[in-house]
Amino acid sequence: MSNVTVIGTQWGDEGKGKIVDWLASRADIVVRFQGGHNAGHTLVVGDQVYKLSLLPSGLVRGKIGVIGNGVVVDPKALMTEIDRVTAQGLVVTPETLWIAENAPLILPVHGALDRAREAARGEHKIGTTGRGIGPAYEDKVARRAIRICDLAEPETLDWKLDELLLHHNTLLAGLGAETFTKDQLKDFLTEITPRLLPFSCQVWDRLDEARRAGRRILFEGAQAVMLDVDHGTYPYVTSSNTVAAVAASGSGVSPSSVGFVLGIAKAYTTRVGEGPFPTELHDQTGRTLGERGHEFGTVTGRPRRCGWFDAVLIRRAVRVGGVSGIALTKLDVLDGLDEISICVGYELDGQKIETFPSAPGAQARVKPVYETMPGWKETTAGARSWAELPAQAIKYVRRIEELIEAPVTLLSTSPERDDTILMRDPFED
Ligand code: IMP
Repeated sequence: MSNVTVIGTQWGDEGKGKIVDWLASRADIVVRFQGGHNAGHTLVVGDQVYKLSLLPSGLVRGKIGVIGNGVVVDPKALMTEIDRVTAQGLVVTPETLWIAENAPLILPVHGALDRAREAARGEHKIGTTGRGIGPAYEDKVARRAIRICDLAEPETLDWKLDELLLHHNTLLAGLGAETFTKDQLKDFLTEITPRLLPFSCQVWDRLDEARRAGRRILFEGAQAVMLDVDHGTYPYVTSSNTVAAVAASGSGVSPSSVGFVLGIAKAYTTRVGEGPFPTELHDQTGRTLGERGHEFGTVTGRPRRCGWFDAVLIRRAVRVGGVSGIALTKLDVLDGLDEISICVGYELDGQKIETFPSAPGAQARVKPVYETMPGWKETTAGARSWAELPAQAIKYVRRIEELIEAPVTLLSTSPERDDTILMRDPFED
């Protein structure tokens, strides 16, 4: 029996929520290992709709939820989310939610700097969620982050706040934004400490015990490989590594614990925020995909950019992400289209290329080379077996498998949890 790690293979929003929820029901523990409250997914369970950004999905299924050291934690956002799901009937206690004491905090200075910098970037803005994710990761690497364990040591907090403010106020003042006083940050931390500290623990130790006891662990990735700070469309990326390898370092388990890596891919492509997107459609088909797929950002409400499936990018995500199998989502959004295109290569300045370039200028100039196939008239929505799928839809899925060099092990045909075709149970692998 294996653990499972779920990651996105495109630019996020691949429909991870439903898949993670389904897998969570078969796991004992669900672990978030990177990102922060820039992520967002909606879980529909019975008549309840849960909107989660930071809390691991497993809590909705009564499982233990873990926030690993690789996550950046906005304590206010976390508490608001806990209050919201508690009002919906969930029980979130230090027994059911473990937060790594070495996780860095997102403070009000981080959001302020994120937004001020975006405003100053003008046409080269990244389109961040404005939630302070990037500045918080910068502070972690620069060794000036306030981590959760620091909250228990007022003397440590005192000098760390001085260092943090020296850095941030210099930048904020330079950008013409409002600066912060030490008292403001102290008040913020004093308010959240009594609620946050009881959840904190040595997550790595508890996960190791769980592993020895043979408990099933699901690692829940956020964002996606094309937003990975190393492997994505840099600089139009998030500030963490999103590949499956980080499930280990971001929670303190051994690399061998990552288990089966399930990559989530939408049957077409979407992106929020700025940055290159070779298969983006600016025509009616793009708008149709957006409308049918309800393509609006969960966190920011921004309309998502839509385009055809890019097999070249996903093949890369499969390779660098260590993907063992793909969960293909939202196939039903393609129902009724006359023709469907798949990007099978690129052209750059008149030359054929087979992999996506790394430099931003080249990434923006790349033109997709398409293979086009007939669509299908029948509906795939709600299908629960291959037999219920139109022959042409099966051909589309099979072609994708060939091109991305990975098997589709799970197919999702509607937002409903049970509208899923399972080829292989990743926990049994
Ligand atoms: P940041 O993570 O807020 O710094 O934003 C950097 C980029 O990642 C922007 O293009 C965001 O739109 C994108 N991004 C961050 N989180 C998500 C997500 O959960 N889904 C999709 N895009 C995201």
